[in-house]
Amino acid sequence: MAQPESILNRHTDTAPDRNLALELVRVTEAAALAAARWVGHGDKIAADQAAVDAMRFVLDSVPMDGTVVIGEGEKDEAPMLYNGERIGDGSAPEVDIAVDPLEGTTLTAKGFPSALSVIALSERNTMFDPGPCVYMEKLAGTDEIADLLDLDRPIGETVKLIAERKSKTVSDVLVIMLDRPRHEEQAKLIREAGARIRFITDGDVSGALMAVSERSPIDLLWGVGGTPEGVISAAAIHCMGGRMVSRLWPRNDEERSAAIDAGYDLDQVLTQHDLVKGDDVFFAATGVTDGDMLQGVRYPRGKATTESLVMRSRSGTVRRVLATHNRAKLREITGARYG
Ligand code: FBP
Repeated sequence: MAQPESILNRHTDTAPDRNLALELVRVTEAAALAAARWVGHGDKIAADQAAVDAMRFVLDSVPMDGTVVIGEGEKDEAPMLYNGERIGDGSAPEVDIAVDPLEGTTLTAKGFPSALSVIALSERNTMFDPGPCVYMEKLAGTDEIADLLDLDRPIGETVKLIAERKSKTVSDVLVIMLDRPRHEEQAKLIREAGARIRFITDGDVSGALMAVSERSPIDLLWGVGGTPEGVISAAAIHCMGGRMVSRLWPRNDEERSAAIDAGYDLDQVLTQHDLVKGDDVFFAATGVTDGDMLQGVRYPRGKATTESLVMRSRSGTVRRVLATHNRAKLREITGARYG
């Protein structure tokens, strides 16, 4: 009698391999736990330092051959997780690493929502190095409006097109943007078109995650924010779906000349595929303070809880990991680092 075909024989492709994001979540959990001790203490530098220290400590336990492409700055200004630092034990895979141990240092210092710890990895030489460019202009949204994202179209027209595409009125459209004086003109155009705005004081990675998430109330992220955050957002969008378009935004003539001299094309529109060229991208983020995307660190009796997003682009798997940490045991293992 013919045997039923085994599900194990049915696959046509390569066998499942290691999902690095599942190891990276321990890294962002550690950084979030460390930063969370500083919530509301008014010291953003100490909060960031705690996150960097914890992230670096746990990263050592991930077997890989990694180079930090998006880190805490140049070696002379950042003792750990500096751009170019080699991480891991040198074993395969060879990867580029983007880190933001604490995305939202001021959010943490003030106890405001949506601070995150975040890391992304992709194959070696696939991540965009922003060089001297500190800022980029960004637009992000779900796949449904991907073709409408155009940095050269007036923003008022874009929000109207989004309303039409989503079969709602323009007054239903909600744009998320950093609250910055440099955004005043565009905010005016969005209001004149009739759309609504949610201003955030910091944290446009979280804003990008919301803009591409089907379940969020946000229709569009627009704004000029950090280039490192742009690369990290691009890695997340590789995994979650949606689209981001961006363009380098030099702050002054000096930065413009430095970028041109270094070979950057300031007119080029960069999508998530230009910012992270790999097709095997891993991403993990853990909430520090409560936000729309992730719950922050909480402290039920003797414990700490974390919520994380763990994603991989090749499989498209998006996991939410809820963890309960035993603080006494953590302290025993790690010292006072993040218990
Ligand atoms: P932190 O570096 O303090 O965590 O701030 C993060 C952030 O708000 C990003 O989310 C954003 O891209 C960038 O700063 C905006 O920069 P600026 O505050 O200079 O406008």
